[in-house]
Amino acid sequence: MAIKPVLRMGDPRLLEPSKPIKKFRTAELRNLITDMRDTMASLKGAGLAAPQIGVNLQVVIFGIESNPRYPDAESVPFTILVNPKLTPVDKEIEEGWEGCLSVPGMRGLVPRFLNLRYQGFDENGKKIDRTVDDFHARVVQHECDHLAGILYPMRIRDMRNFGYTAELFPDEDIADD
Ligand code: NI
Repeated sequence: MAIKPVLRMGDPRLLEPSKPIKKFRTAELRNLITDMRDTMASLKGAGLAAPQIGVNLQVVIFGIESNPRYPDAESVPFTILVNPKLTPVDKEIEEGWEGCLSVPGMRGLVPRFLNLRYQGFDENGKKIDRTVDDFHARVVQHECDHLAGILYPMRIRDMRNFGYTAELFPDEDIADD
Protein backbone atom coordinates (compact mmCIF):
# COMPACT_ATOMS: atom_id res chain seq x y z
CA MET A 1 0.00 0.00 0.00
CA ALA A 2 1.53 3.30 0.94
CA ILE A 3 3.51 5.41 3.33
CA LYS A 4 1.13 8.16 4.45
CA PRO A 5 1.95 11.61 5.77
CA VAL A 6 1.72 11.77 9.56
CA LEU A 7 -0.41 14.61 10.91
CA ARG A 8 1.38 16.90 13.31
CA MET A 9 0.23 18.49 16.55
CA GLY A 10 -1.89 21.50 15.67
CA ASP A 11 -3.92 19.60 13.09
CA PRO A 12 -7.45 19.56 14.54
CA ARG A 13 -8.04 16.00 13.26
CA LEU A 14 -5.67 14.73 15.98
CA LEU A 15 -8.06 16.06 18.63
CA GLU A 16 -11.14 14.16 17.49
CA PRO A 17 -12.31 10.96 19.19
CA SER A 18 -12.12 7.94 16.87
CA LYS A 19 -14.99 5.62 16.00
CA PRO A 20 -15.02 1.86 16.64
CA ILE A 21 -14.53 -0.66 13.83
CA LYS A 22 -17.82 -2.42 13.18
CA LYS A 23 -16.74 -5.01 10.62
CA PHE A 24 -13.59 -7.09 10.53
CA ARG A 25 -11.96 -8.79 7.54
CA THR A 26 -12.83 -5.93 5.20
CA ALA A 27 -10.57 -4.50 2.51
CA GLU A 28 -10.88 -1.11 4.21
CA LEU A 29 -9.44 -2.41 7.48
CA ARG A 30 -6.75 -4.47 5.75
CA ASN A 31 -5.63 -1.51 3.68
CA LEU A 32 -5.62 0.80 6.68
CA ILE A 33 -3.41 -1.58 8.66
CA THR A 34 -1.01 -1.99 5.74
CA ASP A 35 -0.71 1.78 5.40
CA MET A 36 -0.11 2.11 9.13
CA ARG A 37 2.58 -0.59 9.11
CA ASP A 38 4.33 0.95 6.11
CA THR A 39 4.20 4.42 7.63
CA MET A 40 5.40 3.32 11.08
CA ALA A 41 8.24 1.27 9.59
CA SER A 42 9.41 4.12 7.36
CA LEU A 43 9.67 6.42 10.40
CA LYS A 44 11.03 3.75 12.78
CA GLY A 45 8.22 4.47 15.23
CA ALA A 46 7.31 2.32 18.22
CA GLY A 47 3.61 2.77 17.51
CA LEU A 48 1.06 4.51 15.37
CA ALA A 49 -2.64 5.26 15.71
CA ALA A 50 -5.01 5.53 12.74
CA PRO A 51 -5.91 9.19 13.41
CA GLN A 52 -2.24 10.06 12.92
CA ILE A 53 -2.68 9.27 9.23
CA GLY A 54 -6.01 11.03 9.14
CA VAL A 55 -8.28 8.01 9.64
CA ASN A 56 -10.80 8.49 12.43
CA LEU A 57 -11.06 4.83 13.50
CA GLN A 58 -10.07 2.90 16.65
CA VAL A 59 -7.02 1.09 15.33
CA VAL A 60 -3.51 1.23 16.77
CA ILE A 61 -0.36 -0.70 16.02
CA PHE A 62 2.78 -0.94 18.11
CA GLY A 63 5.85 -3.05 18.61
CA ILE A 64 9.49 -2.62 19.32
CA GLU A 65 12.48 -4.91 18.96
CA SER A 66 15.43 -2.61 19.17
CA ASN A 67 14.47 0.92 18.30
CA PRO A 68 16.98 3.78 18.06
CA ARG A 69 14.23 6.16 19.20
CA TYR A 70 14.04 4.24 22.51
CA PRO A 71 17.49 2.78 23.11
CA ASP A 72 16.80 1.59 26.66
CA ALA A 73 13.33 0.19 26.09
CA GLU A 74 12.36 -3.43 26.58
CA SER A 75 10.96 -5.23 23.53
CA VAL A 76 7.23 -5.27 22.88
CA PRO A 77 5.64 -7.79 20.49
CA PHE A 78 4.23 -6.32 17.29
CA THR A 79 0.50 -5.92 17.88
CA ILE A 80 -2.50 -4.72 15.91
CA LEU A 81 -5.15 -3.58 18.38
CA VAL A 82 -8.68 -2.68 17.30
CA ASN A 83 -11.39 -1.14 19.53
CA PRO A 84 -9.18 -1.16 22.60
CA LYS A 85 -10.35 -0.99 26.18
CA LEU A 86 -7.79 -0.13 28.87
CA THR A 87 -8.06 -0.96 32.56
CA PRO A 88 -5.34 0.01 35.02
CA VAL A 89 -4.49 -2.94 37.29
CA ASP A 90 -3.70 -0.70 40.25
CA LYS A 91 -3.01 2.95 40.95
CA GLU A 92 0.75 2.86 40.53
CA ILE A 93 2.00 5.63 38.26
CA GLU A 94 5.43 6.00 36.71
CA GLU A 95 6.89 8.90 34.77
CA GLY A 96 8.84 8.15 31.61
CA TRP A 97 10.11 9.95 28.52
CA GLU A 98 7.93 9.77 25.43
CA GLY A 99 8.10 10.97 21.88
CA CYS A 100 5.50 10.94 19.15
CA LEU A 101 5.65 10.96 15.37
CA SER A 102 3.06 13.76 15.48
CA VAL A 103 5.35 15.86 17.69
CA PRO A 104 8.64 15.40 15.83
CA GLY A 105 11.97 16.22 17.43
CA MET A 106 10.63 16.50 20.96
CA ARG A 107 10.38 14.48 24.17
CA GLY A 108 8.37 14.88 27.32
CA LEU A 109 8.16 13.23 30.73
CA VAL A 110 4.71 11.65 30.99
CA PRO A 111 2.98 9.89 33.91
CA ARG A 112 1.36 6.55 32.99
CA PHE A 113 -0.10 3.58 34.81
CA LEU A 114 2.68 1.09 35.40
CA ASN A 115 0.43 -2.00 35.28
CA LEU A 116 -2.22 -2.22 32.63
CA ARG A 117 -4.77 -4.67 31.29
CA TYR A 118 -5.79 -4.09 27.70
CA GLN A 119 -8.47 -5.77 25.68
CA GLY A 120 -9.58 -5.51 22.11
CA PHE A 121 -9.36 -7.37 18.83
CA ASP A 122 -6.79 -8.17 16.22
CA GLU A 123 -7.30 -7.46 12.51
CA ASN A 124 -9.39 -10.63 12.11
CA GLY A 125 -11.67 -9.92 15.05
CA LYS A 126 -9.89 -12.36 17.38
CA LYS A 127 -9.94 -11.23 21.01
CA ILE A 128 -6.82 -9.83 22.64
CA ASP A 129 -6.61 -9.69 26.45
CA ARG A 130 -3.24 -8.93 28.00
CA THR A 131 -1.92 -7.65 31.29
CA VAL A 132 1.40 -5.86 30.87
CA ASP A 133 3.65 -3.42 32.64
CA ASP A 134 6.36 -0.83 32.21
CA PHE A 135 7.24 0.23 28.64
CA HIS A 136 4.68 -2.08 27.03
CA ALA A 137 1.97 -0.49 29.22
CA ARG A 138 3.28 2.98 28.37
CA VAL A 139 3.19 2.41 24.62
CA VAL A 140 -0.38 1.11 24.74
CA GLN A 141 -1.57 4.07 26.82
CA HIS A 142 0.18 6.52 24.48
CA GLU A 143 -1.31 4.97 21.32
CA CYS A 144 -4.81 4.60 22.75
CA ASP A 145 -4.72 8.21 23.92
CA HIS A 146 -4.57 9.16 20.24
CA LEU A 147 -7.99 7.52 19.80
CA ALA A 148 -9.39 9.90 22.40
CA GLY A 149 -7.78 12.92 20.76
CA ILE A 150 -5.09 13.20 23.45
CA LEU A 151 -1.45 13.92 22.61
CA TYR A 152 1.24 13.22 25.22
CA PRO A 153 2.16 16.89 25.84
CA MET A 154 -1.34 17.31 27.30
CA ARG A 155 -0.39 14.86 30.07
CA ILE A 156 2.96 16.35 31.08
CA ARG A 157 2.81 17.49 34.70
CA ASP A 158 5.76 19.85 34.65
CA MET A 159 6.33 21.56 31.32
CA ARG A 160 9.99 22.05 32.20
CA ASN A 161 10.22 18.36 31.28
CA PHE A 162 9.20 18.99 27.67
CA GLY A 163 11.65 19.99 25.00
CA TYR A 164 13.71 19.24 21.94
CA THR A 165 15.31 15.81 22.01
CA ALA A 166 18.70 17.17 20.99
CA GLU A 167 18.72 19.64 23.90
CA LEU A 168 17.29 17.24 26.51
CA PHE A 169 19.64 14.40 25.60
CA PRO A 170 22.72 16.02 24.04
CA ASP A 171 24.95 13.02 24.72
CA GLU A 172 22.64 10.40 23.31
CA ASP A 173 22.30 9.45 19.69
CA ILE A 174 18.52 9.49 19.48
CA ALA A 175 16.81 9.91 16.14
CA ASP A 176 15.65 13.49 15.72
CA ASP A 177 12.10 12.91 14.60
NI1 NI B 1 1.99 9.34 19.33
